[in-house]
Amino acid sequence: MHKYLLLRAALVAAMGLAVTHSNAQDNKFKIGLILPMTGQQASTGRQVEAAARLYMAQNGDTIGGKKVELIVKDDTSIPDVTKRLAQELVVNEKVNVLAGFGITPSALATAPIATQSKTPLVVMAAATSSITQASPYIVRTSFTLPQAAVSMADWAPKNGIKKVVTLVSDYGPGLDAEKFFVERFLFNGGQVSESLRVPMRNPDFAPFLQKVRDLKPDALFVFVPSGAGAAVMKQFLERGMDKAGIKLIGTGDVTDDDQLNDMGDGALGVVTSHHYSAAHPSALNKKFVDAFQKANKGLRPNFMAVGGYDGMRVIYEALKATKGQGGGDALLAAMKGQIFESPRGPMFIDAQTRDVVQNIYLRKVQKQDGQLYNVEFDTIKDVKDPGKNK
Ligand code: PHB
Repeated sequence: MHKYLLLRAALVAAMGLAVTHSNAQDNKFKIGLILPMTGQQASTGRQVEAAARLYMAQNGDTIGGKKVELIVKDDTSIPDVTKRLAQELVVNEKVNVLAGFGITPSALATAPIATQSKTPLVVMAAATSSITQASPYIVRTSFTLPQAAVSMADWAPKNGIKKVVTLVSDYGPGLDAEKFFVERFLFNGGQVSESLRVPMRNPDFAPFLQKVRDLKPDALFVFVPSGAGAAVMKQFLERGMDKAGIKLIGTGDVTDDDQLNDMGDGALGVVTSHHYSAAHPSALNKKFVDAFQKANKGLRPNFMAVGGYDGMRVIYEALKATKGQGGGDALLAAMKGQIFESPRGPMFIDAQTRDVVQNIYLRKVQKQDGQLYNVEFDTIKDVKDPGKNK
C-alpha cells in the first residue's frame, strides 16, 4: 500500500510537470506519428514517415502561428506497444494529434485513447472498414478494403473471370476484402470455389497456392498487406500458376509500388484495383513522385506514402483553420469535410463517416521507361466505403 501511494505521488508529480511543460510550449503543435519502423511492416513505416517529412519540407513548419513538431515512434506493429506509445505521447508530450497506424490492430487498440483524451487520430495506413467507427476522433486518409475489393468484383466477371478462389491475410483487412469481393462477385454471377485465409504473421503461401493450383479457377483473388506482395508473386510464378491458366487479381496491395519493380516480368499483365499508383497521370502526382524520390534515394512512393502525405495535409489545413485554438474538438471539426486534390486524384473526408471518399482505379502491370508500374486504365469515381452501408 505504502509503495503504491509513493508510486502514485510520483505519477501525479510527473503529470503536473508535464502540464507545466506543455503550458510553457504553447507555441508548439505536436504530431505523434506512430508507425512500424522495424519488423514485417517496416516498409509502411519508412514510406509514411518519408511522405510526412516531405510534406513538412514543402509546406514549412510554422502554421497558424505554431511550430509544428513531428515525434516519430516505432511500434514494431505490436498493438499493445502502439497503445502504450500513444498513451505516453498524450500524457507526457501532450501531442495535439496522433497519426500513422500501419496495421488495423494497432489503430483499433489506440482508438480508446483518442476518445478519452479527445485527441484527433489520423489513420494514414490501416484500412479495415470498421476502424473509423472505433472512435469519433478517428479520421482516415488511407483507403478501405471494401472500396477496392468491390471494384475488382465488378470488373472481373466482365472480363472472362467466372470462377475464383480467394486468398487473404487472416485479419481485419483480409476479412473485409474477402467478404466484399465474394458478395459482389456472386451477385454479378461469378462463382467462388474456395476462400482461403493465411496467417498475418510469417505466412507460408506454398500449401495454399498448391491447393489453388488443384482447384484450377480462372483467377486467384489476393489480399496481403503491403510488404507481402512480392512473396506471393514469387511463389505464384514459381508454381507455374500463370502457365496453368490461372490469373492473379487482387486489391493493389499485392502489386505494391514499394516492391513492384523488383518482382520481374512475371508480374506483367496483373490487374488490380486500388486508390493510388505511382504512375497516376496527373501533374500533381508527377511532382509528388519526383520530390519523394529525390528526397529518398530514388525510393518510389507507394499507397502508404500517399496516405501519410495527405494525412499531413489534413492536419496542416485543420491547424491553419483553427490556429491551434479550441483543442482536439476544434481540430477534428476542421478535418471533417476537407476536399482537395491528392497525388491519387480527387479526395474528400466525409464529415459524417470521417472516412475517405476517392476514386478507385483498375490498373494493369505494364512497363514504362523500362520499369514496372500499375498503369491505370479505368476509373470508378468518388467511391464511398461500401462497409459503411451495412
Ligand atoms: C491493415 O492492417 O489495415 C492493412 C495493412 C496493410 C495494407 C492494408 C491494410 O496494405
